[in-house]
Amino acid sequence: MTNVDGIRIGHGFDVHRFSEQFDSDKPLKLAGCVIPEQLSLIAHSDGDLVLHAVCDAILGAMAVGDIGEHFPDDDVALAGVDSAVLLERVLQMADKKQYRLINVDVTVVAQVPKISPYRQELLSSLCSLLLLDSDRVNLKASTTEQLGYIGREEGMACHAVVLLHSNA
Ligand code: CDP
Ligand code: ZN
Repeated sequence: MTNVDGIRIGHGFDVHRFSEQFDSDKPLKLAGCVIPEQLSLIAHSDGDLVLHAVCDAILGAMAVGDIGEHFPDDDVALAGVDSAVLLERVLQMADKKQYRLINVDVTVVAQVPKISPYRQELLSSLCSLLLLDSDRVNLKASTTEQLGYIGREEGMACHAVVLLHSNA
């Protein structure tokens, strides 16, 4: 039988509100990629909710709180920070604790933009940020069928689930 004692699951969820006006200095960023749409998100960081959800999932699997605790949104040093830097720090934490990622599954929940034209680009970016092969990373998208705040195009959300394995 497989020894599952070292296996840890984590879930992350993040939401950001769209800005009223598109700000070309703050383009929509998902999974480390700039999305060429006239959309901006309100955020202290670069607003990359895919990376925020992935960070939270990894922190959750390690049972060490959440991204807001580790990277407070009133920290002036983190204003406009590239979320890939936050993910890198979370991965360093995991490394220190001798955890390695087994797989990651991401669901973007958005009425807009349509993710499918960018899916491959987001996936390869995620794979390289997470140092994982493509058979260990998935990214999918769903609308909410025009229901609720996402359906009204007020913002977008992302869920992430990760599995970690401890070598300790
Ligand atoms: O219920 P189901 O997820 O099939 O329908 P939907 O929410 O309308 O999404 C249909 C397809 O559109 C999904 O399978 C996604 O691949 C894609 N999609 C997308 O590319 N971008 C979004 N923001 C939402 C959905
Ligand atoms: Zn966020």
